Amino acid sequence: MIIAIDGPAASGKGTLARRLAAHYALPHLDTGLLYRAVAARCLALGRLDDAPASEEAARHLDLSTLDPEALRTAALGEAASVVAARQGVRAALLDLQHRFAAQPGGAVLDGRDIGTVICPRAEAKLFVTATPEVRAERRYRELASRGEPITYDAVLADIRKRDERDSARATAPLVMAEDAALLDTSQLDIPAAFAAALAIVEARRHGR
Ligand code: CDP
Ligand code: CDP
Repeated sequence: MIIAIDGPAASGKGTLARRLAAHYALPHLDTGLLYRAVAARCLALGRLDDAPASEEAARHLDLSTLDPEALRTAALGEAASVVAARQGVRAALLDLQHRFAAQPGGAVLDGRDIGTVICPRAEAKLFVTATPEVRAERRYRELASRGEPITYDAVLADIRKRDERDSARATAPLVMAEDAALLDTSQLDIPAAFAAALAIVEARRHGR
């Protein structure tokens, strides 16, 4: 069973993906980390504006060396959305994602284009959303608790900018797949969001 979870920043898709993966004992890939890692490499080289350099970084990405903690900063979220708009970068990351999704028992993947581009035939597709204000509040709390010097207003501005860039790009834009189930978590805490997500996946599994 492949579960594809997409949605904008801080909608709660990663939390749901992790919990669903644990529930079904499936491997999970947070595909945002791939773009964040490519961005980190480009920033380290001082070449975020260099498209060929970002494609080269994407081609040489090694899943086993990704450090999620180091990659989940606000600056890398922003830089990731810059490199993620490049068709060559996305193409270079396709194979790795397809191989991950092709594991024997299945897999859970979350990102922006899983249900539309990476796994269009996934058994269960969720599109997770929440209002920009709720998402900014969640992300602000998360970053502040990790000691990032950031304000709520800066997080909200970053989220709006990334939503716009991710939705407007030509290649694999952030859109809901036609056959995805929409889950708005604005009013849901994590247990309630998980219960709703599980109900959707169970219904899809049983062809409802
Ligand atoms: O956790 P959050 O939603 O803030 O970010 P993320 O999922 O780590 O993604 C960071 C950026 O990578 C996004 O803003 C997208 O531009 C890009 N991304 C993408 O284009 N396609 C994906 N499948 C996953 C992430
Ligand atoms: O993966 P994505 O960027 O969509 O979001 P996330 O990392 O799953 O969630 C962002 C933050 O919101 C985390 O700190 C979650 O614990 C929190 N969250 C929440 O408060 N309520 C939810 N229903 C889902 C997530």
